[in-house]
Amino acid sequence: MTQQHAQPPLMNVNVILVDDERAMRESIAQWLTLADCSITTFSDSAEAVSHVTPDFPGVVVTDLKMPGIDGLGVLESVMAIDPDIPVVLITGHGDVNSAVDAMRQGAYDFIEKPFEPERLLSTIHRASEKRDLVLQNRALRQQAVRSNSLEESLIGECPALRQIRADIKQFAAIDINILLVGETGTGKEVVARCLHNLSSRHEKPFNAIDCGALSAERIERDLFGEAGSRSSPGPFELAQGGTVFLDEVTNMPPDQQIKLLRVLEQREVQRVGASEANTLDIRLLSAANSTLSDVVANGHFRKDLYFRLNTIEMTLPPLRHRDDDGVLLFQVFTKKACQLYQRELPDITAQDITAIRTHAWPGNVRELKNAAERFVLYQTMRVQEVLHVTDTTVNRTLSDQVHAFEKSIIEYALTQCNGSISHAAEYLRVPRRTLNDKLQRHGIDRDEFIR
Ligand SMILES: Nc1ncnc2c1ncn2[C@@H]1O[C@H](COP(=O)(O)OP(=O)(O)OP(=O)(O)O)[C@@H](O)[C@H]1O
Ligand SMILES: [Mg+2]
Repeated sequence: MTQQHAQPPLMNVNVILVDDERAMRESIAQWLTLADCSITTFSDSAEAVSHVTPDFPGVVVTDLKMPGIDGLGVLESVMAIDPDIPVVLITGHGDVNSAVDAMRQGAYDFIEKPFEPERLLSTIHRASEKRDLVLQNRALRQQAVRSNSLEESLIGECPALRQIRADIKQFAAIDINILLVGETGTGKEVVARCLHNLSSRHEKPFNAIDCGALSAERIERDLFGEAGSRSSPGPFELAQGGTVFLDEVTNMPPDQQIKLLRVLEQREVQRVGASEANTLDIRLLSAANSTLSDVVANGHFRKDLYFRLNTIEMTLPPLRHRDDDGVLLFQVFTKKACQLYQRELPDITAQDITAIRTHAWPGNVRELKNAAERFVLYQTMRVQEVLHVTDTTVNRTLSDQVHAFEKSIIEYALTQCNGSISHAAEYLRVPRRTLNDKLQRHGIDRDEFIR
């Protein structure tokens, strides 16, 4: 950055000045400019107010007597935009009553004409210091709220998870490329979103691209956008100012890998059919399962791209390596599911806890979250039974899963009803005949359920 002043000002003060009298406006502007203030002048009060935003980092100085909206009107409008913006009124000699009114309404101070420039300047400096403090406090509070949300979004007390949260806080604000590595369901996308939410880009888009779901014919356009008559921006341009999350990045075909590398190196993207490239301002995060280094080793993934993506690599541990986080997460997800589905909080028994601890959780946190939801929905099912239902659903087609799920629900109903078909039919709200048909189809023997 170039320095405009030989000696930097002690404080850069922003001032919006409103005065209908030209001579007054110009002389105040001149004094303040000499004192290193950045000043914007207005003769029209309505126009001045339209330039004030809730995050305005400065002071409003307004004359009291003006045609149209007067100084008290300006004060009222500014208070409505942000009551913490300091407003200084310049009053005529003897306007004491109005000045007192203005102070009651929240003006920072008033200055009676005629006045010494130094008097105005010192008032503006004090007001500006106060404004800076307010804005700093606000920023700190917002940051605290966002950090709290990190603890809530990425739950876990094992050392690895604590370290990951610390890393997120440390690296969120820096625009480095981070590669998130971990088995399915370990929280890679959660971490990516936290990194985005804690960065200065948080108000801009977070755009996830599932590299495994791109269709072969459209891949170029879906990745880089299209120029010409069907002009449309791609996901990189749509994330302008924000974050792009390349999910399942190992699934990116070789031809696109080299184009992606170019996008990352040059920080610009050329739409399909375009003659020129558009500059990008994005932060890049990506995710891969733990086999990424194998994919690089066997030549399916470009080494140079791999090194580009992982300036820093963060590894999400599988649930089975996370101490007692399984139980903690199960409790949290159970509570959340109860709120969501408006159910009573079920007891988690010692037997349930053993089941949670001994299960291998191949689907990691996703699988556990699913199990906790079922646990809440089938109020009387124990975790062991819920896991039986969940277990049978891993790696199956939809109809297989529906079939297995239906079977387990019927078995569960029969357990609850001690093998009575009529009670189970009532419990499941299906006609008796339908239930009988289903028992046959699933090969369920009701005698096994009679106690
Ligand atoms: N530490 C955690 N705290 C709270 N919720 C979590 C945590 N880790 C994962 N989850 C939840 O588990 C589910 C799966 O997480 P996520 O989608 O981030 O996993 P992933 O690693 O991206 O999985 P995949 O590789 O299958 O895409 C989500 O519902 C997410 O909210
Ligand atoms: Mg994911």
